[in-house]
Amino acid sequence: MHLITLIPGDGIGPEITKAVTDIFAAAQVPVQWEEQNAGQTTFDQSGELIPQTLLDSLEKTRVALKGPITTPVGKGFRSINITLRQKYDLYQNVRPAKTTEGIQSRYTGIDLVLFRENTEGLYSGLEVFDERLGISDSIARITVEGARKICRAAFAYASKHGRKKVTLAHKANILKMAGTIMINACKEASNEFPHIVFEDKIIDNMCMQLVNKPEQFDVVVTTNLFGDILSDLCAGLVGGLGVVSGANIGDDMAIFEAVHGSAPDIAGQGKANPTALLRSALMMLHHIGEHKQADRLEKALELTLQDKDKCTGDLGGKASTTEFAQAIIDNLDK
Ligand code: NAI
Ligand code: MG
Repeated sequence: MHLITLIPGDGIGPEITKAVTDIFAAAQVPVQWEEQNAGQTTFDQSGELIPQTLLDSLEKTRVALKGPITTPVGKGFRSINITLRQKYDLYQNVRPAKTTEGIQSRYTGIDLVLFRENTEGLYSGLEVFDERLGISDSIARITVEGARKICRAAFAYASKHGRKKVTLAHKANILKMAGTIMINACKEASNEFPHIVFEDKIIDNMCMQLVNKPEQFDVVVTTNLFGDILSDLCAGLVGGLGVVSGANIGDDMAIFEAVHGSAPDIAGQGKANPTALLRSALMMLHHIGEHKQADRLEKALELTLQDKDKCTGDLGGKASTTEFAQAIIDNLDK
């Protein structure tokens, strides 16, 4: 039995979390949840955004599944996601994007995995505003060590999963130092994994190529801000934020999460699509070595996605969150 921290989150978070835990229970996946919340609801109840009990749980279990969280805006709070990523050095943000039968997309044949550096760059929190001069400086800090870690992680993943190519997206023609650090880090990793092809592309060209011919990409690695933007772009290529998974991975902790937000417009209405969180939970199963269970649940999900009537509204169906989850349960081992 694996003990996992479960963070239901805000808005649609509890609904999609329940769908996932119901599916796991029905499939008898050997996972035991330790529920600890964070976010707006927790703040309203306890005055704390990230309770110490959640941090204690994370430090014990080292693996979490997390629903979307609302960070109260305009009250001086730092994003909970960024706080957790930096506190526990979850330096890899891993975002797969794959076209799937039953999920509408303009494309076919996309199967790529994006590695976004998750703790540095423009998200380092180094921003100063000089009121007298009216100047804001935002520092995009890239460390040689950080670049090495994320680039090596991308190559190691490619090698482990039988992938053929790693593409680095950068802007070394303008951001000469940061870009060069990333190129050198990839070249170093590429020496260690010579069977993986390495190429690099300038970020603007990368965007054009992703939209034009996305099936050419395999594993993509990039810095924090470029990765934030590219990962949503990639989600758009394969059906949108409601269906793509994500993980924040460090050397000794990993938090798996749906990449969409708390969707306040549909919260509490039973309309939310649990696919993104379920797929993130499947990445989590691979992470803890439960590959068979992950493949089994993925098959049930893929079968369900092919039957429009059983899917939620955003996928063109009429089913509620609970009905969709039940359909996945009914499709287990079929
Ligand atoms: P959002 O992703 O919550 O919603 C955007 C649109 O997509 C809405 O129309 C929503 O109904 C729809 N949508 C999102 N997930 C869906 C799902 N699973 N099924 C069906 N429809 C879905 O983005 P928005 O509105 O910009 O943000 C709302 C809140 O979420 C904000 O407080 C934001 O800070 C937070 N947020 C949290 C994230 C996290 O915890 N990882 C990530 C992004 C936003
Ligand atoms: Mg983002």
